[in-house]
Amino acid sequence: MPTPILITTPIGLTSFLREELQRLKYPIKKVGAAGVLTEGDYTDAMRLNLYLFTAHHVLYLINEFSCNNPQELYKRINAMPWETMISADGYLSVVSNVFHPSIKDTRFANLKTKDAIVDRILIRKGKRPDSGPQRNGAVIHVYWRDEKCQVYIDTSGEPLSKRGYRTNPLYAPMQETLAAAVVKATRLKSSENFINPMCGSGTLAIEAALQCINRAPGSIRKNFGFMHTLFYRKEVWDELVREAASRERAESGRIIATDINDDAIKAAYNHARLAGVDRLIDFKAVDFEETQIPDGAGVVVFNPEYGIRLGDESELGQTYRRIGNFLKKRCQGYRGYVFTANMKLAGEIGLKSGRKIAFKSGKLDCRLYEYELYGGTRL
Ligand SMILES: C[S@@+](CC[C@H](N)C(=O)[O-])C[C@H]1O[C@@H](n2cnc3c(N)ncnc32)[C@H](O)[C@@H]1O
Repeated sequence: MPTPILITTPIGLTSFLREELQRLKYPIKKVGAAGVLTEGDYTDAMRLNLYLFTAHHVLYLINEFSCNNPQELYKRINAMPWETMISADGYLSVVSNVFHPSIKDTRFANLKTKDAIVDRILIRKGKRPDSGPQRNGAVIHVYWRDEKCQVYIDTSGEPLSKRGYRTNPLYAPMQETLAAAVVKATRLKSSENFINPMCGSGTLAIEAALQCINRAPGSIRKNFGFMHTLFYRKEVWDELVREAASRERAESGRIIATDINDDAIKAAYNHARLAGVDRLIDFKAVDFEETQIPDGAGVVVFNPEYGIRLGDESELGQTYRRIGNFLKKRCQGYRGYVFTANMKLAGEIGLKSGRKIAFKSGKLDCRLYEYELYGGTRL
C-alpha cells in the first residue's frame, strides 16, 4: 500500500511542482495552495528529494488520528513505534502547523510531540536521542487542524531550496526554488542560450545550467532528513544518485552571466563551482549593456533591483528604460524576460509584454514579464 507523500512549495509554485511530478510519473492526488499530494514508498520520498527543482519539503506520512487536546497528542504519538524509526543515538527536531483551539503556541505542540517520542525511545532503548531546533537530523512534522492530526517524517530536513551551493548570497538573492521556477517559466530548451545580465550571486544561471544538463538538484546536497531515520539505506541512495548522474547531458547551449559588481561575479563563479556547473557558464564583470549576446536563439533574463529593498526608484527608472532598449536592440531573435516586484518600473521597459507570470518572493508580489524580441539586424 503506497504511503501518502505531501510535497510543499512556496505559494505560486504549485503548478511547476505538479508538472515536475507528472514528468517523474508520480500520481497527483491533490493540489493545494502550497503543496501537492502524491504517494509512494520511502525510496520514492528519497527520489523526490533528489529530482525536484521546485519543492521545499517532502513529507512522508507515518500516522494520522483524531486529536482534541495536548494530552491526547502525547498519548497518540507515544503509542507509535518510534524505536523502529529513530535511533536513540540520533538527533531529533519537531516542527508543526497547528490550527486547534487547545494550542495557543505551536511550540507547545512541538514540545509535547518531542517528549512523547523521546520518552518512548528511552523506555525501549535505555537511551534517548538529543533534540533541538536544528533541522540537520531527523525532523518530525505535525499537521493538526481541527480534530485531525497527521504525523510526517520531513524527509528533506532543511528546505530543498538550500541546495548547498550558495555560500555567499550577497544582496537580494533569488531563492533557488524560485529561480528554478522562473527558468522553467521561460520554457528554455537545453540547446538554447541562456543569458543572465545582472546575475548577482548567479542563482538563475546556475539553475538554468542544472536544468539544461538534466542534473538532479539534490545530487549537490550532502544532508537530508531521510538520512537520519532507521528506514534509510545508504546503498539505495547511492544507487539513486548514480542513476541520476547517468541521465545527465554533457553539453548545454551558451550560458552567460554578467554583473557590474566584481564581488558578485566572484561569488557567482564560486557558487557555480560548488554546483559543478562552472565549466558551462561564462562569467564577466561588466555593465549589462556590455553582455555578449551570441548568435542563435534563447532566453535573456533580467532580475534588476526593485527599488523596494535595494536601489532608488527614480534612478532605477533610467535603468529599466536602458534594459528595454538593450532587449529591443541587442537581443533580437531571443525571448526576453524581466523579473521584478515593481510593476511601475516594469512599465519603464517600454516594450509590449506577452505573458506576465505571477510569482511571490517571500511576501512580495512579483511578475515575470515576457517580451518576444523578433529577429532582424542587431545593432
Ligand atoms: C536583484 S540583484 C540580482 C539577484 C540575483 N538574481 C541573485 O539571485 O543573486 C540585481 C543585481 O544587478 C546588478 N546591477 C545593478 N546595476 C547593474 C548594471 N548597470 N549592470 C550590471 N549589473 C548591474 C547588481 O550588482 C545586483 O547584483
